[in-house]
Amino acid sequence: MGVSAFAPGRVNLIGDHTDHTGGLVLPLAIQLGTTVVGERGGAVVELTSDHDPRPVVVPLGDAPDLERLPPWGRYVAGVVGELQPSDGFTGRVTTTLPVGAGLSSSAALTVSLALALGAGPDQLALAELCQRAEQRAVGVPCGIMDQLTAVAGVEGSALLIDTGAKQWRPVPIPDQVHVVVVDSGEPRALVDSAYAEIRARCVDGEAVARRHVGSENDRAHQVAELLPESRFDEIGELMVASHRSLADLGVSTPALDSLVERLIATPGVYGARLTGAGFGGSVVVLCRLGALDEGWVAHPSAGAALRSW
Ligand code: GLA
Repeated sequence: MGVSAFAPGRVNLIGDHTDHTGGLVLPLAIQLGTTVVGERGGAVVELTSDHDPRPVVVPLGDAPDLERLPPWGRYVAGVVGELQPSDGFTGRVTTTLPVGAGLSSSAALTVSLALALGAGPDQLALAELCQRAEQRAVGVPCGIMDQLTAVAGVEGSALLIDTGAKQWRPVPIPDQVHVVVVDSGEPRALVDSAYAEIRARCVDGEAVARRHVGSENDRAHQVAELLPESRFDEIGELMVASHRSLADLGVSTPALDSLVERLIATPGVYGARLTGAGFGGSVVVLCRLGALDEGWVAHPSAGAALRSW
């Protein structure tokens, strides 16, 4: 059967390093994402990619040797291992997401592939499967934010996700503002980064981490309340406070700090902060329409979708 599956990347408006401890996050699925097109059948999953001339081949059933696969192929192996599809697949992966910009290209890959391989319609089960696939593939103990956003994104809205209760609701983004993404140009290497260490500190409740998690949950909750009321100045202050708290936690970099300082000094900008794990990647900005002539406007998109023929 011919199928085409798409999953979006995400940018997180506020609520970072809170999903390790079941906290609140407020991401939006974006217009950029990953598409897997191909045919089901056979005994292997074989994919080609725009970014790599070598095909990735993962046999069904046997645990593949991850070391022999390129990094993106490990995510493929992770999804095959978790989903255990009854049919193989031959196809192609394309993406409009910049890799290493902190916009969840890995979740977009795992979710689009899981759908292409025949994952069921339960949104939470699909997100959890892809979270486990990512943990299995690269050993990063990621939370559920990225996968759930890729699966359950709602057009025009951010998603307020309670990662502990595993419940979410859309929070509409008013028309008078733009969410802009500015890439710091510093590629984020999550696998090699201190992500696992930061997660352990958040879970262990060490003083700085505890202060960050508690205050960040409050900020995410407040932004979700303020956004529908178009109280952008207050939201901007909360975004900047979030960035400073993440910097105290140790996940910012000099490049991200100076980019945020420069952006918040720009007329028409309400607030800016690093987005996602940190350690490089992108800054998310809330601003008046057209206030910035750098970066790109993130349009809140719908979540993953499957077509078959
Ligand atoms: C990465 C992880 C998420 C989350 C963020 C930080 O994107 O995949 O689960 O922990 O970092 O908020």
